[in-house]
Amino acid sequence: MTDTFQFKLLATDGKARRGEVSMPRGTIRTPAFMPVGTVGTVKAMYLDQVRELGADIILGNTYHLMLRPGPERVARLGGLHELIRWPWPILTDSGGFQVMSLSGLRKLDEKGVTFKSHVDGALHHMSPERSIEIQGLLDSDIQMQLDECVALPASPKEIERAMEMSLRWAERCKAAFGDQPGKAMFGIVQGGDIPHLRERSAAALAGLDLKGYAIGGLAVGEPQEVMLDMISTTLPHLPTGKPRYLMGVGTPDDILKSVARGIDMFDCVMPTRSGRHGLAFTRRGRINLRNARHAEDMRPLDEESNCPAARDYSRAYLHHLIRANESLGGMLLTWNNLAYYQDLMAGIRKAIEEGRFADFMAETQENWARGDL
Ligand code: GUN
Repeated sequence: MTDTFQFKLLATDGKARRGEVSMPRGTIRTPAFMPVGTVGTVKAMYLDQVRELGADIILGNTYHLMLRPGPERVARLGGLHELIRWPWPILTDSGGFQVMSLSGLRKLDEKGVTFKSHVDGALHHMSPERSIEIQGLLDSDIQMQLDECVALPASPKEIERAMEMSLRWAERCKAAFGDQPGKAMFGIVQGGDIPHLRERSAAALAGLDLKGYAIGGLAVGEPQEVMLDMISTTLPHLPTGKPRYLMGVGTPDDILKSVARGIDMFDCVMPTRSGRHGLAFTRRGRINLRNARHAEDMRPLDEESNCPAARDYSRAYLHHLIRANESLGGMLLTWNNLAYYQDLMAGIRKAIEEGRFADFMAETQENWARGDL
């Protein structure tokens, strides 16, 4: 029987790829940006809006959802899609990364990770098998292996230990996931900033014949150049016929440069989180609406945008809302930013199809460099 989870490469332009990841709940047009919906909400947005902007898939987090409302409860309520009213694909991160960044006390060993909840302080244990079980209870379409991501800089010994353990966890997650047509479990390449460890990780994961591959452990404190080098080092060791997802990245510039190297999928809190903090992404670069220079500027962020938040509201009003800590300010800037990111991805996809990705990238970067209107 053929699997109903499929990746199709539609076009390439240099190393940039235009593809489609299809599954029963929908098709992801790649390169894709996945808005982050950590606790079952893309913060400050209606999911109807998120869809309308062109998102084919959103992200959820095992760590947050296991603590609240709890995976068994989500399953009783009909699964995450039903609960949050998003019938299209959902990818869930496995939890390890969020445990490291959010929870207090944690202990990590071969069996898994023990941590203290940031919600109520209770102790929890998560093994690779339990992470997959939770992602199954959530009914996630693309599940991620449990892994250990080390913050950089770190010693080579530490990076190698975490990478090797992540490989063993990948095998356990693969076994726990089993054969689920229409769904996928992705492996995660680790190896820090050390090329031969990245190569070893990618080659070993490729040997497991998974349905997709992520590159993790990047954008964790290293310069952009190191991140891009690690992508270039890793990708030749992954199969070309499977989707490649760069986790937690990034700025619009990171996305262009990573697409140029062959990445298909991205997620990042940047457009949503920075929107809530007053930062707008536009065709002409970033605008910090907190800045006093916007206080009496009646121009919109971008009159040519299709997004009402960018086109119809004055900078003066956005400035006022952000300064006054009004929730509408964060809502409008999140809307603007997700619209900008999805328009960027649509532009990238069209450019690859038409064989002019390098020109598109240069023009886009020139516009940012020209600065605010
Ligand atoms: N999100 C960003 N980076 C990572 C990573 O290395 N691992 C996981 N699981 N999630 C991430």
